[in-house]
Amino acid sequence: MVKKEEGNSIEKIVSLCKRRGFIFPGSEIYGGLANSFDYGPLGVELKNNIKNAWWKRFVHQRDDMVGIDAALIMNPKVWESSGHLKNFSDPLVECKKCHHRFREDQLESKNCPDCKGELMSAKQFNLMLKTFLGPVENDESIVYFRPETAQAMFVDFKNVLDTTRRKLPFGIAQIGKAFRNEITPGNFIFRTREFEQMEIEYFIKEEEWEKVFEMWRKEMQLWMTDVLGLKEKDIHELDIPDGERAHYSKKTIDFEYDFPFGRKELYGLAYRTDFDLKNHFKEAPYENIELKEKLYPHVVEPTWGVDRSVLAVLCNAYAEEDERIVLKLKPSLAPYKIAVFPLLKNKPELVEKAKEVYKMLKKDFVVIFDERGNIGKRYYSQDEIGTPFCVTIDFDSLEKNDVTIRDRDTMKQERIKIEDLVLFLNNKLQ
Ligand code: GAP
Repeated sequence: MVKKEEGNSIEKIVSLCKRRGFIFPGSEIYGGLANSFDYGPLGVELKNNIKNAWWKRFVHQRDDMVGIDAALIMNPKVWESSGHLKNFSDPLVECKKCHHRFREDQLESKNCPDCKGELMSAKQFNLMLKTFLGPVENDESIVYFRPETAQAMFVDFKNVLDTTRRKLPFGIAQIGKAFRNEITPGNFIFRTREFEQMEIEYFIKEEEWEKVFEMWRKEMQLWMTDVLGLKEKDIHELDIPDGERAHYSKKTIDFEYDFPFGRKELYGLAYRTDFDLKNHFKEAPYENIELKEKLYPHVVEPTWGVDRSVLAVLCNAYAEEDERIVLKLKPSLAPYKIAVFPLLKNKPELVEKAKEVYKMLKKDFVVIFDERGNIGKRYYSQDEIGTPFCVTIDFDSLEKNDVTIRDRDTMKQERIKIEDLVLFLNNKLQ
């Protein structure tokens, strides 16, 4: 019997992730490393399903989008021009007594949260993660890991334009890692120093920005509800006021999500004006052939955190019912789509038939084979990792060439001919 409590605490999600191989603490056997995490066998499937759904929807299914995959480390001049070296900082305060450091804007009182000591006045702390490139470690060899994927879309703008002959409006999309020397990482994978983003820089004429901003606002809403399956009631928009936006933005909306640890930023949508292209290109990089004029396109930027997507999906899907813990993931996101079981492990004819079905399904789906324990335990084990369907091969299957298929959410079972299985599952798993 599963003990029921009000609401889902983040500890339960963290524990399930570790127990079942979604997400592990990074470098665990050496005591971990500052809130870093590794995606395990199930986590990588869930994360890839999210990234692939994003790429399909926003790159492949649109006519106005192309993708890139740029280097993580760029020429440091990129960060000078983009303003990150000067402006990409958070206010840091240090405790006079224990010397622990905190982000001033995240503190609840004026005293140290660890020892209640007095805090020094705030200094700006740059979040760029530094390293050295090449065999000499001096000022000239300092480089930075990118703090956002975005700048590559601006720096590569002319190359993309010349090779694809796009006309405004169009976007450049990218999925990749970003790094920030966060002062206080925390809340599991919510805030880490190494994370992944899915970003679009959407290039437009200046006068179109409000219309385009609205278009992306709706697209982001639909992504959250239709693709990730998040509930509308848990999603909120926050218009970031003047003075609190990033240095490049004229308007920003944060999409916030009700995580178990509070309402926090999930994604962002910003109007970056022509700030970035103007800083990178001395000459206007876009030519309007019809009007024979050169211009700096303006940019609307929708941005999605991959890890925060994974976390929101897990928090939304986690449910405790009388007898079981179940992850009610959208089938398209579930790590395994189907589990195949022989009714009994010690009956070779059942195992052989089940392996046949397993091999057949493996051609089209991500499938797992399980013969341990009894059927009930196997069902609950699959429920806990969100597998939408379980297929059991029993003695009748040998005679009638059919199987029992059990639905994760309704727990109902039905019999279906093996020859109809692929079509049935294709329809259900879309
Ligand atoms: N290019 C714009 C940009 O980077 P941002 O709001 O700083 O904007 C975009 O970051 C998204 O990246 C956030 O909405 C969040 O989903 C994710 N993100 C930012 N910092 C993060 C961190 N330290 N850990 C995990 N995800 C983070």
